[in-house]
Amino acid sequence: MRRGSIVALLGLALIAGGVAAAVALVPTWLPETASREAGRIHFVIWFVVVICILIFALVAAVLAYAVMRFRVDDDDFEDGPPIHGHTGLEITWTVIPFVLVTSIAIVSAIVLARNDAQAQDTLRVNVTAQQFAFTFNYPDAKNVVSPVLRLPKGRSVELYMRSLDVIHSVFVPQFSQKEDVVPGLVTQLHITPTRLGTFPLECTELCGLGHSLMRTEAIVMEPSAFDAWLRQQEKGAAPPPSTSTTSTSTSSSSSSAAGLAAFKSYGCSGCHTLTAAKATGTTGPDLDKLVSYAKQAKQPLTAFVHESIVDPDAYIQPGYPKGVMPQDFGQRLTKSQLDALVTFLVQSAQKTGNK
Ligand code: CUA
Repeated sequence: MRRGSIVALLGLALIAGGVAAAVALVPTWLPETASREAGRIHFVIWFVVVICILIFALVAAVLAYAVMRFRVDDDDFEDGPPIHGHTGLEITWTVIPFVLVTSIAIVSAIVLARNDAQAQDTLRVNVTAQQFAFTFNYPDAKNVVSPVLRLPKGRSVELYMRSLDVIHSVFVPQFSQKEDVVPGLVTQLHITPTRLGTFPLECTELCGLGHSLMRTEAIVMEPSAFDAWLRQQEKGAAPPPSTSTTSTSTSSSSSSAAGLAAFKSYGCSGCHTLTAAKATGTTGPDLDKLVSYAKQAKQPLTAFVHESIVDPDAYIQPGYPKGVMPQDFGQRLTKSQLDALVTFLVQSAQKTGNK
């Protein structure tokens, strides 16, 4: 091979590799990392991307060089030279991919094993997914239930996830992990948050009409703030103010505060609009209009609201689908939660209805 050919090939490889590297590096493809696992996963991604750029540069350079250097004349209709294999070349293009693919497999296996490894003081969180909301339960802390996933920074956390209906999937882009939530199974996801902040937590499995609304937040807190929050929840106090769960009404009685808490923790806002809870879901009926719905259903307001929660298909508001609202709230809510929720909905419907 002539020295000029090698220089030309190298130049072409540098151009192709430079373009590919710019495409990989200049746009921000990946979200900021907020967990130790995400950092490892990003390492695997970049490991593969670097290999891809090298191979692409080599192939593009040889291709471009061959097109330019060995182009035949327009009137040359002869067959090409008969070539019957080249043992050295064939061994090379078998061994190199073998080494690369094996190294990717080894790196991935190490990262998967490390990402799943729980630390000594792992915090357990039970996740319940249903159409169309997630609820998070902290079993080590007298069964605290929350509509948002609160996590202490720096601590190993294991999610134990169950679905009450169809397949859902938990995804926090900044944690770089996704895990399906499958009926009849308990799936697990291990997270070690490393960055304080509020991150979106969304369902990434098409699970029905309200799929696009099935989203909440993962809030990573300082461990001391997290412990304080857990203790406060254990005492049954109102949730601390946060970006997403700020109470709208400062004059609400304790009963309507309990109703609002139930509304939020059971994911009602995933599907319903309710001004008093700053909920804007559109899958199910607009709860600001309960007064007129009850009139259409020819029922007294309180009885109508109660029936609609425990037996949602008994009356279907025209324009909304049947069989979408879960049938089991009657069993899942405690008696006092149900009463508080009904009272809260009736009060807020009367307020908006009278405006
Ligand atoms: Cu749950 Cu999509």
